[in-house]
Parts: sequence; structure tokens; C-alpha cells
Amino acid sequence: RDVAIGIDLGGTKILTALIDEKGSILTEVELETLAPEGPEAIYDQVVSSIYRLIDERNLDESRILGIGIATAGVIDTLNKEVIFANNLGWENIPVGSLLEKEFSLPVHIVNDANAAAIAESIWGAGKGSENLVYITVSTGIGAGIISDGRLITGEGGSAGEFGHISIDANGEACGCGNIGCLENLASGSAIAKTAQHRLKMGAKSDFFTSPAKVSAEKLGKAAQGGDSFSLDILKEAAVSIGVGVTSLVHLLNTEVIVFGGGVMNLSEILLPEIKKTVAQRGLPSMTKNINIVKSTLGVNAGVLGAVGYYFEPSGKALAAF
Ligand code: BGC
Ligand code: NA
Ligand code: ZN
Repeated sequence: RDVAIGIDLGGTKILTALIDEKGSILTEVELETLAPEGPEAIYDQVVSSIYRLIDERNLDESRILGIGIATAGVIDTLNKEVIFANNLGWENIPVGSLLEKEFSLPVHIVNDANAAAIAESIWGAGKGSENLVYITVSTGIGAGIISDGRLITGEGGSAGEFGHISIDANGEACGCGNIGCLENLASGSAIAKTAQHRLKMGAKSDFFTSPAKVSAEKLGKAAQGGDSFSLDILKEAAVSIGVGVTSLVHLLNTEVIVFGGGVMNLSEILLPEIKKTVAQRGLPSMTKNINIVKSTLGVNAGVLGAVGYYFEPSGKALAAF
């Protein structure tokens, strides 16, 4: 047995890949998530994408070590259940045992950012570091924390919900129940919302005329084109992230912070601002040597981390599942 099947299950797309022990993707299938059609439709997509992968490669099933799933949200790694994944509409779905029955293979399930942290530590930007945090800034914000060489899982496997730490004690209510969450201030959806709100209130942009047209991606393009309205919003988001990162570093004495997720396509705008904030606010002895970098595995970090369990002998990844 020398290959594993990884799945990165997100609210917008499902990436399924056949992966070897070097972290190379041999084949992949990408589907648009049928989120509006409900939880069962998404589960069916997962199953059919695995069959498609096996068929396309004409794969001898006795070569497969197992299946790994990385998904956003709160996960019970032990019982292999998705407890709550907002963007999938999944609540208490025992996806692990369902897939084990379907394919007669071992299945492991892990939070998307926790998976990416594992992948970056085995194959990517965090290679060689015992104290690394991976942070994804995408539709939501999440993190995976590796401390003293082990992924921190906590009691039920949910440690690392960095997007739901409160940055603004009197801020807006978040879907999670908390107030002023980092995710509400700096995720892709939050950035777009802020821009829409400001335009409605009469703010002027060189680029946008209608609030309805604003997305984080377009805001990034506008900022790159010199629109100061867009640039300011991105910089403010970066400051919020920097405030969160400062607390994180104070708690964990982290060596490397790896940033990924779609919004980090704007890393040339965001990273300098994040670094500046950490340098201004952090305890100098803890922050002066910190290495804040962009992910090297990019969009594949989740899918690779999902199978980290099968390939990482030191136990770093094992703790996650
Ligand atoms: C979820 C996390 C996830 C993050 C990034 C957040 O909204 O709560 O579990 O890691 O989004 O997808
Ligand atoms: Na996490
Ligand atoms: Zn929250």
C-alpha cells in the first residue's frame, strides 16, 4: 500500500486527490460543492469523486492506505463526525463511518486548517519547525497549531478555532455566538461586507460604483490598481489579523506562522501590515525572530494534510486524527 486518497471538503469546492508518500498529487478531481442542494447531495459528491479517482487511474484498490478528509468546522476526530460545518449545512454527520462502510478502507477526518498545518510542517513552509501555526484566511478564518512538535487537538479535536477569538469586545455578533470575532473583521466575506457597507454610507472609491459588485477578490484587484478605498479596507483587516497573531505568539512562543487561504493571494498587501502590527504590539523578545511567511503548498495544503496521517511516521500528524 503506497497511496492515499485526500479530500478537501469546502463550501465552494471539493478537491479529491490521489497522493503518494512524497506529498505528490498523482491525480485529482475538483467539483463545485452543491451546497444549496443539502447535506446528502454533498455526501454523494464525496463518494462519486472517490470512485472517479479510482476509475480514472484504473487503480488497484489494494494499493490504497486509506482516505483522509479535511473539512472546515468543528469535528469530532475520534468518532469521525462533522459536528458543525456551517458552509456545508452539516450537523452531526458521521462521514467517517459512512465512508468506511462504502469503501472498506480506513477513514480519518480533520479540520481543514489543522490539516494544512500538518501538510506545511511535513512538506511545506513549516518543514523543520517544531513550533508552527498555519492560518487560513478564506471564506472563514481558521488555524492549525503545532506546538513542541505536536498538533494541538484539545479535548475533541477542535483546537485552533482562531477565527472565533474576539478581537473587538464590543463588535458585531458572529454566527458562532461570540462577539467581534476575528473572522467577522478580516475573512474574505467580512472584507467584502465592510466595503459594501462603506459604499452604502457614501464612501468614494475609484473602482466601485455599486456596493452589490464588491467581492474580496475584486477589492484586491482594485487595491493593486491603486484604489485607496480598497487598500485601506485590506490594511485594516491585516491589522486585525496582526492583533490576533500577537496574542497567539504570546500564548505559544511560535517560531513560524504560515499564511494560506484565498485571501492570501493578496499577501503582498497583507503580510507587511500583519508583520508591522506584530512588531509594534508584541513582546519584543518573543516576536523579534518570528518568521511570518506565505504557504508553499497553496491550494493543496488541505488535501495533502488530510492524508498526512498515513505518511508521517513521527506522530506529529497522528495526534490530529
Ligand atoms: C471555521 C473553521 C475553519 C475556518 C477556515 C471557520 O469559519 O470555524 O473550522 O477552519 O473557517 O475554513
Ligand atoms: Na483549526
Ligand atoms: Zn465567531
